[in-house]
Amino acid sequence: MTAEAPAKKDLDPIETASRDEISALQLERLKWTLRHAYENVAHYRKAFDQAGVHPDDLRELADLARFPTTNKEDLRQNYPFGMFAVPREQVVRVHASSGTTGKPTVVGYTQTDIDNWSDLMARSTRAAGGRPGDIVHVAYGYGLFTGGLGAHYGAERLGCTVIPVSGGLTERQVQLIRDFEPRIIMVTPSYMLVIADEFERQGVDPRSSSIRIGLHGAEPWTQAMREEIEARFDMDAIDVYGLSEVMGPGVACECVETKDGLHIWEDHFYPEIVEPATGEVLTDGEKGEMLFTTLTKEAFPLIRYRTRDLTRLQPGTARTMRRMEKVTGRSDDMLIIRGVNVFPSQIEEVILEDGRLSPHYVLELHRDNRLDALTVVVEVKPENAGALEQIEGPCAKELAHRVKSTIGVSVGARIVPVGGVERSMGKAKRVIDLRDPA
Ligand code: DLL
Repeated sequence: MTAEAPAKKDLDPIETASRDEISALQLERLKWTLRHAYENVAHYRKAFDQAGVHPDDLRELADLARFPTTNKEDLRQNYPFGMFAVPREQVVRVHASSGTTGKPTVVGYTQTDIDNWSDLMARSTRAAGGRPGDIVHVAYGYGLFTGGLGAHYGAERLGCTVIPVSGGLTERQVQLIRDFEPRIIMVTPSYMLVIADEFERQGVDPRSSSIRIGLHGAEPWTQAMREEIEARFDMDAIDVYGLSEVMGPGVACECVETKDGLHIWEDHFYPEIVEPATGEVLTDGEKGEMLFTTLTKEAFPLIRYRTRDLTRLQPGTARTMRRMEKVTGRSDDMLIIRGVNVFPSQIEEVILEDGRLSPHYVLELHRDNRLDALTVVVEVKPENAGALEQIEGPCAKELAHRVKSTIGVSVGARIVPVGGVERSMGKAKRVIDLRDPA
């Protein structure tokens, strides 16, 4: 670790409050949220009535399990503004997530919501080792995506100097980093690696750059990917999590002194883990799907939102608030190859064990004799580019073998030249579906 943890006196008092204090605050806020949603959003009134529950039925936190869950389809059906709980005139901002199919999901914020979001992203940045006065380079996309503006407002709130670069134009990203010397970068982990490559292409060692802290999120990334980023830049790579429906970046964040999972800012979000198939609430420590209920949101309260993110809840360490384990996949990212469940992140771990291979990869899904089959396509590292012809055969064979022995699935593997895998400027697309439409 190179960055220092914040002093206790600089934390928000609730970050070091007791569990009892946190639970009491959650109960009070949860009662308010349920009432607010029931009274002001037709969808919730109908859903609660149909389930035979009323906001008054919540006497303790565990009672929340009796309330209906909300999913992306509910939000789509109320497109664009039907889930807003305040008159539209009080909504000062909207964001939207495009998703892969259908209409986008639209979310709205009152001024108080924007203030809370800024506070929580400032808290996340401080937990990552940031402090007032730091220069922050924001390379998350600005626009309807929550990454850019969420990071921006949080860094400003902490008292930093913000460089609002947005994603893309990688050459210019590197130029601005070299000229402005930011201490902090906020960017997806996959694009961070593209920036590292561009440094090297320009003949500059990324380790000589000013960057010491990265807040990386918006997509799953592994511990192996963290090690790769930290080694190439001489920095702390911190995991930050969020989703537009719940707020945006800053729902949970790691602390630089522990890097042991993401502390959920539980004064604003109430987490539950459920068994994905049945919706049954699981106990802390068990792995399942994360659900969030917002506790303070005015414009867009969300009750038991099914995130599809798979993780588990663990007790607090650097903070009292509970942690969520690094999200390594979404239930809808899971591939089933000959009966074996596979997440792209598992393959990423295996790829990065081989020092000759780069972290740029995609998984091609195709049909082989009517069965789904997977080919791992991965770029060789630039320093091995000259030896590609000699190493591609043995490297591919070893990779397929290691995937089989660690994950238990047979895959094909192809090692491609530098630049053979398309770069993304935001969230990486890890799976390319080449199957014929059924
Ligand atoms: O990705 C918000 C965000 C921006 C988070 C910048 C962090 C940094 P959405 O576009 O709505 O919002 O996508 C949300 O992205 O349900 C997860 O599946 C995934 N995701 C977000 N952060 C992480 C993370 C933003 N740290 C969806 N690790 C979520 C793994 C993540 N997956």
